[in-house]
Parts: sequence; C-alpha cells; structure tokens
Amino acid sequence: MNIAANPAVEAADQTVYLKDYKKPTFLVDSVHLDIQVFQDHTIVDSILNVKRQTEGDFVLLGRDLELKEIKVNDVVLTSDQYQLDTEQLTLTNVPDIAVITTRVIIHPEKNTMLEGLYQAGNLFVTQNEPEGFRKITFYPDRPDVLSVFTTRVEADKKYPVLLANGNLLETGEVNASRHYAIWEDPTKKPSYLFACVIGDLAVLKDRYVTSEGRDVALEIYAIEKDIPKCKIAMEALKHSMRWDEEHYGRPYDLDNYMIVAVSQFNMGAMENKGLNIFNTSCVLADEEYTTDAAIMRVQSVIAHEYFHNWTGNRITCRDWFQLCLKEGLTVFRDQSFSEDLQSAAVQRIDDVSILKSHQFPEDAGPLSHPPRPDHFVEINNFYTATVYEKGAEINRMMATLLGKEKYRQGTDEYFKRHDGQAVTVEDWISALSAGSGVDLSAFLRWYNQPGTPKLQVTHKYDAVNQSYTLVFKQSLRKNDKYPELKPLPIPVALALFNKDSGEQFTLDADDLVENQVKDGVYLLNSEEATVTFKNITTEPVVSLLRNFSAPVNLDFDYTDDALAFLIEHETNGFNQWQATQTLLERILLEDHVAQPYIDALKNTLPNIVKKDPLLASRLLDVPSEGYLASRIDENYKPDVIQEKRNALLNAFAKALSSFFKETYLSLDPKLQSEFSQAMGERALKNIMLSYMARQGDEAVFELAKQQFDTTSNMSERLGALKVLVWNDAPQAKEALEKFYTRFKDEPLALDQWFMLQAAHPNATQETIQYLTSHPDYDLGTPNRIRAVSGGLNNNPVNAWSYGVAHFIELAQYLDEKNPIVGSRLLQVLSRWYTLAEPKRTEVKEELTKLKETVKSKNVVETLNSMLSV
Ligand code: BES
Ligand code: ZN
Repeated sequence: MNIAANPAVEAADQTVYLKDYKKPTFLVDSVHLDIQVFQDHTIVDSILNVKRQTEGDFVLLGRDLELKEIKVNDVVLTSDQYQLDTEQLTLTNVPDIAVITTRVIIHPEKNTMLEGLYQAGNLFVTQNEPEGFRKITFYPDRPDVLSVFTTRVEADKKYPVLLANGNLLETGEVNASRHYAIWEDPTKKPSYLFACVIGDLAVLKDRYVTSEGRDVALEIYAIEKDIPKCKIAMEALKHSMRWDEEHYGRPYDLDNYMIVAVSQFNMGAMENKGLNIFNTSCVLADEEYTTDAAIMRVQSVIAHEYFHNWTGNRITCRDWFQLCLKEGLTVFRDQSFSEDLQSAAVQRIDDVSILKSHQFPEDAGPLSHPPRPDHFVEINNFYTATVYEKGAEINRMMATLLGKEKYRQGTDEYFKRHDGQAVTVEDWISALSAGSGVDLSAFLRWYNQPGTPKLQVTHKYDAVNQSYTLVFKQSLRKNDKYPELKPLPIPVALALFNKDSGEQFTLDADDLVENQVKDGVYLLNSEEATVTFKNITTEPVVSLLRNFSAPVNLDFDYTDDALAFLIEHETNGFNQWQATQTLLERILLEDHVAQPYIDALKNTLPNIVKKDPLLASRLLDVPSEGYLASRIDENYKPDVIQEKRNALLNAFAKALSSFFKETYLSLDPKLQSEFSQAMGERALKNIMLSYMARQGDEAVFELAKQQFDTTSNMSERLGALKVLVWNDAPQAKEALEKFYTRFKDEPLALDQWFMLQAAHPNATQETIQYLTSHPDYDLGTPNRIRAVSGGLNNNPVNAWSYGVAHFIELAQYLDEKNPIVGSRLLQVLSRWYTLAEPKRTEVKEELTKLKETVKSKNVVETLNSMLSV
C-alpha cells in the first residue's frame, strides 16, 4: 500500500496539548532493525518485542512508508486487520505480549527534508529527533518508550563504513558486492536517539579512560581531506568527558563514542546515543579554514552533545513539551564548560548577547511561548531561543541561588532518582530541591509562563543615616493566552561602589542585610520588595544584575555618569560590558550625547587591551541594527537606525583614531601562545581596521590587503576581506576572487565568502541575485542557504526592502522541500508588525498571501502565529 507524501494539513485540528498526555499502551522491550540500502530504495525490516502497559489500541507511528508486510506473532495481517492512514498504523486486540514484525520501503535518496534516513552526497545518515524515526519504520515514536536496539545495516561495498549505536557485534559479506554490520546498543533509549551511518569516510581515532577506568574508543568520521580539521573537536571531546566527571560526577557509559560529520544537516548537531551526527560547521575546526568564533562554537557544540549523554539520553524527556528539560539544562552545562575555555566574562557576554538579541524579541512578539509550552502543532517549531536560552537561564538562576555545593547535591539527586527514565520538568525541580534542601518549586513558574519580566528598581540614599534603599518591583506584560501570570523568583546579584574611591562597599555588614543578601545575591520573591543597606558612608553607585543573574529587562534610572563610572570601575566584566551597551542604547535610541561613553572607553581600554584583549574587543561592541530594532515596538524605520548608528561609528572612529591605529600596529597575535589571547588580539585588530577604514584613509586599504595576503589565519583573512569589500576598496574584487580560488573546494570557507558579500551594507537585489544564482549556491544545503540569508539579514534596511521577497520565496520553496528550515528562515520576518507604515501593511499582505500557498505544518503554524498580532 502506498501512502501519499505530505498531505495538505489543516493546522487547527493538529494541535497537541500537554494536558492530554497519556502513557503509552505498549512498551517495547527490544527492537531488531535490518536496514538494507540500495541505490533507489531502502528496505527496513523491524521486529518489536512489545508488552502491554495500559488498556487500548497499539498505535505505531509512520510517515511516507510503503508497508510491504505486517505480522503479529508470526501471523501475517490482511489490510482489514489494521487501520492505516498517513500518520499511523493502529492495531486493535494485540495480545499483552507480542512480536510485531514489519517490512517497509523508504527512499533516502529522495529525502530533501533531511529528517529520518537521508542521502547527503555519498553518505546516508539519520536525523530522528524529534519525530524522524517514524519515517524509517512503524514505531511508537515517542520519547517515553525506551528500548534496547539491535541494528543490522547492509549496503554496497562502495560504502565501507556501516555504523549504528552501541557495540559492533559482527561484520560480514552478503555477496561479492554487498556487506553488513550488526550493532547492539545495551542502553535503553527512545527512538529519537537511534542513528545509523552508511558511507565512505575516513576516521580520526583516540582513546579516553574514564574516572571508573573504562577505556573508551573515540572516533570522528569525516571525508579524508577533513580529518586534520577534526583534531580540535577531538581535544574538546576529551576535555568535555573530564569536565562532566569533575563538575557533575558523570562518567561515560559505553566502550565507544563516535561522531560523524555531514555537510547537509538542518541543525548544528545531534546527540544520538554513542553516535553523534554533526553538521560539518560544528565539528571541523582549523585556524586556516575556520574563524575563531567557529572554533569556539565547535568546542561548545561538542561539549553540548556529549553532555546530553546524561542530560537527555540516560535521563530523557517524558514528552516533547519537556524539551527544555534536556536542552535548557544542557545549554547551561555547555555554557559553564565554555566559561572555563576562555575569559568567563566574555563567554557570559556572548551568551547574554544571544539571549537579548534573539530570545527577548521572540518573547516580546507573536511567537512568544513559555520555555515549556502547553500546546503545539509542529514540535520542530519549538526548538527556539526560548526553550534553549531562556531554559538555560532558569537553570543558571537556580544554580546561582544554591551555590556550587548545594547545586551539586541537587543534580546528584536528580541522577540518582531518574537514571534510565523519561521525566518531566517537575521531576527535575523536585530532585534539585530535595538534594539541595532548598525549595525551588517557585521556579516552575519560569517554565510555565511566557514573557520577559520587567524589573523596575528605584533607589534612595539617606546621608543622615548613611543608608541606601533599593525598591524592586516586577511586572509581566499582559498576555491573553496566559491570563494568570504570577510573580517570579528573581535573583539579583548586586554590588555597591564608593564613587570616590572606586572600591566596593561590604554588603553583609548589617543583620538585616545578611538575611536578605547572600554572597551579593538578593532573591526577589514577591511582586515588590525593599532592601536597605546600612553603613554606606557616601552615596554609592549600584551595579545591578551582575553577570546577568536573571533574564529580565532592567529598568533603572542610571545617570550617564554612573554608567561611565561602571565602565571604568566595575570588576565584573559582564556588567562592565552591560554598562557600555546601556549607554550606547541611550545614545542611539534616546539621543543622549556620546561624549561620556567615548571618555570612559578612552580611560578604560588602554589598560585592558594587553591584559584581556578579548574583553577589550567586546567593550567596543556597538549594538547591531537588528538588536536596536528589537528594542523598538512600533513605527520602526530601519534607515533611521542605520543612519544614527553609522554617525556614531564615524564619530567614534574619529575620536579614537590614533588609539585605533597604534593598537592595530602594536598587536601581534602570532606572539601569543594562548589561543584565547591570540583570538582577542585578532578580534581587536579587525575592529581597529574597520574603524580606521571609516576614516576613508586609502592607506588603510593597503594595510588590509597586506593582512589579507600574508596571513594563514581565517579570522585575519576574513576581517581584512570584509574591510575591503564592505568599503568598496579598489582591491576588493581581486581579493574576493583570490579567496574564491583558494577555497572553492572548502564548503565552510565558501559559506563565509557568500555571507560576507550578502552582508555588504550596500548589497543590492542584484548582489543577492548574483549569489543565489552562483553555481556554488545550493538549495539542498542548509548551510549555504543560511550563509546568504543570514548575511542579508545582517542588514535590516536591505532585509526589509528586497529581502522580504527573498525570504517569502525561500519559505515557499522550502515549504515543500525542507519545511523545518523554511519555517525557521521565515521567522526572520516575525517583527513585521513593528515597521512604520506603509511597509507594515505591505509585509503583512505578503505574509497573508504566502499563507494561502503553503502546506507544511511547520510553515503554516509559524505563519499563523506571526500573523496573530
Ligand atoms: N538535540 C539537538 C539537535 C536537534 C534539535 C535535532 C532539533 C533535531 C531537531 C542538539 O542537542 C542541539 O541542541 N543542537 C544545537 C546546538 C547546541 C550547541 C545548542 C543545534 O543543533 O543548533
Ligand atoms: Zn541539545
């Protein structure tokens, strides 16, 4: 029986609700898969040993499968003995213990959605989270069904590598041209963690001995010429394994750990048990081919997927509403790991930048949802900044409040209680509370409520009594879908500075303060509260939300001078950076004068440049046009923001021109032995270079050309190329050609080449046309699409003019070919409603028109939400 592909769906009927959760009727004790790959089809045989758990039918989920045969306890069923539709196969009256056998045919060679089993060039790989496994075989494809998997993979010998999860049991020949391998994964797992790989790949090998003495074989598979680019990932893997033992007491549990690099992948990477599959962009790292930022990203993604082995795999999610249980916690863990790799302040700055530029706007617009949503149409649409980044922040708040020791007691309890189970956010909070002895149940609200809280703070200094009072008030924006918003627990890390000496006041001098402020962290756990600090001998400067201790919008009436003071004196690098950003936002959005900012940087930078060049580079951040846009809720005019921002950059370039030039010439990253120090110097040099170029000095182009020609480091090369191309320097064309010739067979480097041109401030419709019709542009490779679309989106003036048609056309095309990616890209337009007229109405009309033509649940749900303002 053949099932029509991708039927038109009506989003309205397809909503799934958390409150409707029901236990599965059958559990699967073990499953045997036999996957035979042929050039134009693949045969999947499956044997499920199932056992009844509750009354009811047995629902096996399956999509785009051609069912050849189904047997229950060795008896072939005729088509009147089961019900089959486009989504599932339902069996009634299944005995309490049964063996279900099926044979299906699938087509990985035609799979453009990159979900289930798909062919990417010469490689066959799987992507099963969240609901891809049902495109491989009929199965209760839900995360609360855990089973032991045995997998036989069979293919032509031109694919020498045959991998699946677990231990290799057997390999052998089928005939002269075909061979097979049998793998057994001893750990019970949900189907979304199943993986197999068939291809012709080389491998980098290493070993790691765990704290328990287990000798683990580590393997990273990639195409031959990329093997040298796998070394950084291998080091990061060993580092992650040690880190999880030391910080969470979690050793690895299998005898092998494999990673496979694939260039066509919807996401960054996937934590399949013992067999991670990675987008090449998140595993290949080499100074010659990849930027420093990409190298940092590779290390954090390696850690992230490795950490899932405990937070996600051994303890998994009961249902997909609990996604942030595994993702929020694992992101918090990978962020903490990365804080050990480079300046912790800079890591925090980078993580908060992402939170504020992506999650805050998401949570303030039509796509807002709680970190644990209570309904969805298409779960793929909920791998969001809110689930990931806000989810991580919730865990960070609890960890901050508990302190190292108690947090560890809490996580120990979680692993003790729930190893081998599929659990909920409630289970996590209960275990953390029980283990630490601190009741954290109020934090559940953070998981269940949408929106970024506003934290209003006012202050008063009483010179006579030498006391300083802070009044905190929290509020959440009204939300029709969530009428009963409750106050949230908000940890506020703070410090008080003596304005004259620059020193910090001690906060725990007084009894009252000792009760309320512990280690500089005040927990606001009601709508409003007042704290009074005693023995404050002179009016202080307060620094609030140090290290960004809670994901809230702070509303505090700083003077520009107080912010300038914090830029110079705050010892928490994150809040030092935050002060620059607050000040800049006022200059750019509220027309404050730039001088205090310029003076503060002049006083501060020279000392930091040598000590912590990476932090220095971040202190020079100027909020992007996109970020500034996210701070504007109506009547947004992209060109006005661009103009103001450019004016500030020009003024800044002028005011610090000699400092920029001297610094550029004095730094030599090659002399630094520490990667993070060298990375900082490279970042600084590139910033200096772009400021110098703003002065219109032709000699700067020569410096840039020289940097471009002489370096073998990708960050330096791209930094220089960007200055040449974005300023339309006479040397630009030749440099672009040179880059292309050198890297045309290096897809990740070529992505940068596409991105850089698409992001040209004056890129025109023709520029984008040229790039998207280039022979190397490929709509089957999400990385390439993201390079051009991401570049274009770097520039809101362009994105909101001809960019609108670009994104709409893309969404229309991907709606059929790859709806997961299509739906994500479309979200670039989600703030359409903030635009000034007539643009606002124009874009709305385009989106409304698009809605009539699209079919996938993914794009339909996203469009419905986007238009629901
Ligand atoms: N489990 C996800 C990968 C995933 C997400 C697969 C959605 C299918 C659908 C993985 O652990 C993950 O979160 N990857 C991130 C990178 C990570 C460092 C945050 C990704 O792919 O972007
Ligand atoms: Zn993850």
